[in-house]
Amino acid sequence: MIAKASLRAALVFLCVLFVLLLLPQPAPAYDGPVGTAQMLVNKEYLLSSDFVGGDLVNLRDYMRVNGTVEMCRPAAEALQRMSADMQAAGVTGLSGSSGFRSYSTQVYLYQRKINQYKAQNYGQADAERLAAQVVAPPGASEHQSGLAIDVTAGGTGLTESFANTPEGKWLAEHCWEYGFILRYPQNRTADTGYIYEPWHFRYVGLPHAEYIHKNELILEEYVQKLQQEGVIGMISGQSGQAYAVYHCRDAAEIDALPGQRISVSYATTARDSYIVTTLAEASTLYDIVGHWAEENIRHLVMLDIVTGYTDNTFRPGRNISRAELVTLTARTYRLLFRPEEETPGYLPYTDVKPSDYYYANLWLCYRRGLLPRSMQVLQGEAAFLPNQQVLRWEAAEALSPLFSGFPELGSSITFGDMLNASPELRHAVQLLADYGILTGDLQGNFNPDANISRAEISAMLDRILWSLYEEAPTEEEAGEKNLQAEKENR
Ligand code: DAL
Ligand code: ZN
Repeated sequence: MIAKASLRAALVFLCVLFVLLLLPQPAPAYDGPVGTAQMLVNKEYLLSSDFVGGDLVNLRDYMRVNGTVEMCRPAAEALQRMSADMQAAGVTGLSGSSGFRSYSTQVYLYQRKINQYKAQNYGQADAERLAAQVVAPPGASEHQSGLAIDVTAGGTGLTESFANTPEGKWLAEHCWEYGFILRYPQNRTADTGYIYEPWHFRYVGLPHAEYIHKNELILEEYVQKLQQEGVIGMISGQSGQAYAVYHCRDAAEIDALPGQRISVSYATTARDSYIVTTLAEASTLYDIVGHWAEENIRHLVMLDIVTGYTDNTFRPGRNISRAELVTLTARTYRLLFRPEEETPGYLPYTDVKPSDYYYANLWLCYRRGLLPRSMQVLQGEAAFLPNQQVLRWEAAEALSPLFSGFPELGSSITFGDMLNASPELRHAVQLLADYGILTGDLQGNFNPDANISRAEISAMLDRILWSLYEEAPTEEEAGEKNLQAEKENR
C-alpha cells in the first residue's frame, strides 16, 4: 500500500516536471545597448524634460561652429567627414550653429517665438499654432536628442535662402551619404508639422538615410512603414551591402532575427519598440534565414510558386489574401497536373477584371473547384474580395481538392475544435491531415477561423508538392485513365 502511494506520488511529480519542462520558457532578453539614431521625436513622440542626448561632444573639435555646439558623438563624427568632403569639393562656408538643446532652452525658444507672434497682434491660440510650426514645443525637438543640427553659410541665417547657397545645395544632395536627412522638406509641412527648414539635418545613420533619401520619405513615414511591414530590405548603393531593417516589439523578437545585428535603436520616444538593423546576404531572402519554414519557402521559390518582395524580403509572418491564395494554388496545380494552356473566360465576380494579375489563376481555381465555399458563386454574381485575408478553413477547402481521388486514410488525427464543423470542412481538413499537410496547434486544435500566414501556406504547399509530385498524373493522363476505366467497365 505504502509502496503504491509513493509510486503514485513519484508519477505525479514526474508529470508535473514534464509539464513544467513543456511550458514555453521565457526567451532570453536582448540586453545589448539600445541607441536612439532612428528614434522618432516629434509633437506626438515627446522627450521627457530630463532627457539629455547621450555621449555629447563639443562639435568644435569636428567642424567649424558658431559659438558652443554639442552633438552626439556618432553624429559629430559623421559631420566631421561630411564637412571635410565638402571642403574638398570646394564648398567651404559651412558652420554648425545649433546642435543639442536642453528642454529648458526649448521652453525659452518656443515662448520667445510665441511672443514674437503676439507682438504682431496674433491671439494666444494663433500665436502658439504658428510658433509650433517653426520652433518645436518643449519635448518635441530633435535638438534635445543631440542628433539634429542647424547649419548656416554665407550669412543667410536660418532662412529658406540657405537652400540656394552652394552649401545648402551640396548638403541636400549629399547629406544622406553621411547618415543625415533633411528632416523638414519643402511642401511637407502638413506631414512634418514644420515649415521647410533646409538648414536642419537629422542624423539617422546608414543605411537608413540612404533609403529615406532615395524614397523621398520623411522620418515619420519611414518608421510607420517599418511598423506596418515588420521588415524592409535594402541594398545600399553606397556600400553594396544588403541590409534587413526590422521593427521588433520586444527582446524575444530581436533575439529571433536572422542576420548579423549591427544596431538596435528605439523606434520612438515611447521606447516600446525597436528598429533593428541587420546585415543580410544579398543572394537570399533576408528574413527567412533561420525561420521555421525556411526550407519550405526555399523550395517554393525555386519552383517559382512563391516570390519574395522586390526588396528581397519574404515577410513570412504576413497574412495572405484571397488573390494570393488563388495564385499560389493555381501555380501548384499547374506544376502538379500540367494542364493545357487556356484563355480565361467569364467569371461571375463583380469586383474582378480580366486585367487583374490573378485573373487567370482565379479562373483555373474556379473551373477546377479549388475554392472554399466562401469564394464560390452558386448563382448570379458575387464579390470575390481579392484583398480579404484568408482564414485557415478556407485554405483547407481550397487545397484539399488537390487530393481528390485519394482516400481519407482514417488516421487517428483529430482536432478538438473541428467536431462540430460542417461535413465538407471536416472532410477537407481530415484529408489534408491524413496526408501530413496540416497540423494543429499544441492543444490539438485546427483554429479554422484564424488567418493564415505566408509561412504557413508555404509549408502546406511544399508538403503537398512532396506528397503528390510523384503520384500526380497529368490532366491528360488522368483523362486517359478515365477512358481506360470506362473501357474496362464495358
Ligand atoms: N526648428 C525645429 C523644428 C526645432 O525646434 O526642433
Ligand atoms: Zn533645427
